[in-house]
Amino acid sequence: MIFGATGHLTATKLLPALFHLENAGRLAKNMTITAFARREWSLAQWQQHVSEALKDLVNEKTRTPQQKKLFAQFLNRFRYHQGSFDDLPAYQRLANDIHCESACIHTVFYLAIKPTVFATVIKNLALAKLNQPCGASRIVVEKPFGEDLKSARMLNKLLHQSFQEEQIYRIDHFLGKEMVQNLFVFRFANTMIESLWNRNYIDHVQITVAESMGIENRADYYDQTGALRDMVQNHLIQLLAVIAMEPPASWDADALRDEKVKVLRSIRAIPKNAVNQFAIRGQYATGRVEGNKSIGYLQEKDVPKDSTTETFAAIKFYVDNWRWSGVPFYLRTGKKLAKQTSFIAICFKQPPQQLFHETPLESICPNWMMLSIQPEKSMNIEIHAKQPGLGMETHVIKMDANFLNNNEHGLDAYHTLLLDVIEADRSLFIRFDEVEMAWQVIDPILRHWKIKNASNPMPTYRAGSWGPKETNQLLVDNSYGWRND
Ligand code: BG6
Repeated sequence: MIFGATGHLTATKLLPALFHLENAGRLAKNMTITAFARREWSLAQWQQHVSEALKDLVNEKTRTPQQKKLFAQFLNRFRYHQGSFDDLPAYQRLANDIHCESACIHTVFYLAIKPTVFATVIKNLALAKLNQPCGASRIVVEKPFGEDLKSARMLNKLLHQSFQEEQIYRIDHFLGKEMVQNLFVFRFANTMIESLWNRNYIDHVQITVAESMGIENRADYYDQTGALRDMVQNHLIQLLAVIAMEPPASWDADALRDEKVKVLRSIRAIPKNAVNQFAIRGQYATGRVEGNKSIGYLQEKDVPKDSTTETFAAIKFYVDNWRWSGVPFYLRTGKKLAKQTSFIAICFKQPPQQLFHETPLESICPNWMMLSIQPEKSMNIEIHAKQPGLGMETHVIKMDANFLNNNEHGLDAYHTLLLDVIEADRSLFIRFDEVEMAWQVIDPILRHWKIKNASNPMPTYRAGSWGPKETNQLLVDNSYGWRND
């Protein structure tokens, strides 16, 4: 059952993922998908909406009879249930319909809704006893889980009044990305890599999730959320945890999450009086993105003209443990940046002795390892080699490895994660202590920015740039600068 079925997330991620699972033959024959939403639509109107949302995946003209049959089978799975989130009788009618249809069912409730209505939906599910079907029930909660530490704890308490921990799936879709899962294999299946993965060899780590798109008609959600809550507290901190964690004892959901929590616990708290030295924010102004003119954030539809919501955040963290002591982790994300790209750049230390310092400048740059998460899924290592010829000159060569073959596209994160929910595998979902720890490191920044809003103008950046120029200040103690490619 999808709550928020007519929303952006359902159209762009959930419906394509479910259809993909249909194509792959992974949906049970008698599985139904109930769309719960406010609009007064008939089932036919809803099915029309689904066809529209999937039109890029299913080309009407070129569809074979077999594909047509499959699509019809997919559309037939749907039920449309009209109701608003605070309308308890709508939940009771839903419970009634379900009981009439089948005596015993397993249910997944997917909350594809704004965090502000999580509590209402959870309470009503329980009041209508939808949380107690005769089969198993699971609930998927989208991020951000709460809006700070305190509200996250309240939300968790509320969830636990109606659901057991084993039934709760806190989703962070970055963990379902092909390349992020590959990081586990890459790190823990290669002795060569793992032995270099520490403070003795790594100078610093940069994690960039850059988006060239804006807020895509999501002002209602985004303006109350901002980049720090929307991206850093969850996606970027999870990437940091995967990069920095110790090998888990097994590929078991709890073993994996234990190791991530240890990393999050080791993140050094940002001192209240020095937040400016660790965190930079910004809001996009007008500019040009990928050649096209772009409006600023304050001109976006439904954004208040005096909004102080940040659309960019960059933060420096230290992980104070034996493996990472002294190695800065720089995290950066923003909307309307120069490119749509996400990658992790690992900068290695300079060799202790510069034997070749007389050679061209390139020889003094460090080795880099670039792990591209999207759109490419690749690894690129930059190393020094001798320039062919009589002299002893060096140049940088790049060793490229694409993780996908030319004709492979890889799966979208939601394909993997929805199947995991259906099959009850929680390894790639977030445990509450991870959420707590992440808020603990983010809360001081949120508080500081809130106070600052009263007295300071919001720093802006040109749409199509790499964010506010102050972002470079974070890197003062290293001379290499941000990697943008
Ligand atoms: C979502 C954020 O969680 O992740 C969006 O709410 C963001 O603002 C999106 O655009 C990015 O995810 P992806 O998978 O499209 O890179």
